Amino acid sequence: MPVNIRGRHYLKLLDYTPAEIRYLLDLSKEFKNMKRNGVPHRYLEGKNIVLLFEKTSTRTRCSFEVAGHDLGMGVTYLDPGSSQMGKKESIADTARVLGRMYDGIEYRGFSQDLVEELAKYAGVPVWNGLTDQFHPTQMLADLLTMEEKFGYLKGLRFTYMGDARNNMGNSLMIACAKMGVHFTACAPKELFPAPELVEQAKAIAAENHCTVTLTEDVNEGTKNANVIYTDIWVSMGEPDEVWETRIKLLKPYQVNAAAMQNAAPDAIFMHCLPSFHDTKTTIGAQIAEKFGIPEMEVTDEVFESPQSVVFDEAENRMHTIKAVIYATLC
Ligand code: CP
Ligand code: NVA
Repeated sequence: MPVNIRGRHYLKLLDYTPAEIRYLLDLSKEFKNMKRNGVPHRYLEGKNIVLLFEKTSTRTRCSFEVAGHDLGMGVTYLDPGSSQMGKKESIADTARVLGRMYDGIEYRGFSQDLVEELAKYAGVPVWNGLTDQFHPTQMLADLLTMEEKFGYLKGLRFTYMGDARNNMGNSLMIACAKMGVHFTACAPKELFPAPELVEQAKAIAAENHCTVTLTEDVNEGTKNANVIYTDIWVSMGEPDEVWETRIKLLKPYQVNAAAMQNAAPDAIFMHCLPSFHDTKTTIGAQIAEKFGIPEMEVTDEVFESPQSVVFDEAENRMHTIKAVIYATLC
């Protein structure tokens, strides 16, 4: 059956079938080819989108802006400081106003409930640009990057190291389960994904002939993996006080040369970015001074190694976001 997702929201991968995800990945490849070959694709001229950011962003914001412009659309960026959203106007009211003016709304914020609420009232497609629970646009970029590097997805062995119950851990577990990739969360028990989500992921994985595994054992978790993935140890919106306990919990789960050597010989390293792999950032320098660790979730050696595909992954944010905008609006 042909896939048609026109008019749909894009809030979490749980709402999408493997066939729909496949369609978005294939469309992303077409847009990437067009962009690389300088073929214009202003298919959405006359339309307008608005980007609402309650948390900071480089990749997601720029991807939506460039994708929007490439598609010929008008793009408005709003942060909490420059709109009434939240302080003086509820999400439901904001949604109903913006839905009258724009053809699509991107939202990055805190709880998943907020983006779901926005979608309920907007009357136009809403795209989740990251919440505390999920980061679905990142998932398409990650799957596309893996497919580009290996030529296939089904049967790959994927290991996520670190805070496995944050938006990235949750989303990657579902993305892998949907696309037939064996998923391992390699993390301390305290940071395993919520049991209900794990159960859901396991049921989805069973349908797609792959597995979901949780382990605290780094040697077991990284053994023979094709992809080693990590994310920052403290996410946006979490208080500074958690750094100390998080560092203690996650230091053994740092992606370093030993972890990569234990993985498959052709293993790649992935990270959604931004990353604390050195002390060249304000927070990186502060943490190094306070806790004596100059590198956090990944060593600089691994981050800068030929196995690292993080910048290809970052570029793919734009091509995949373009596919989501196009497919839901056209
Ligand atoms: N990976 C990602 O979402 O990056 P930004 O926070 O810069 O958008
Ligand atoms: N877990 C990170 C992801 C950033 C893209 C955060 O929410 O800050």
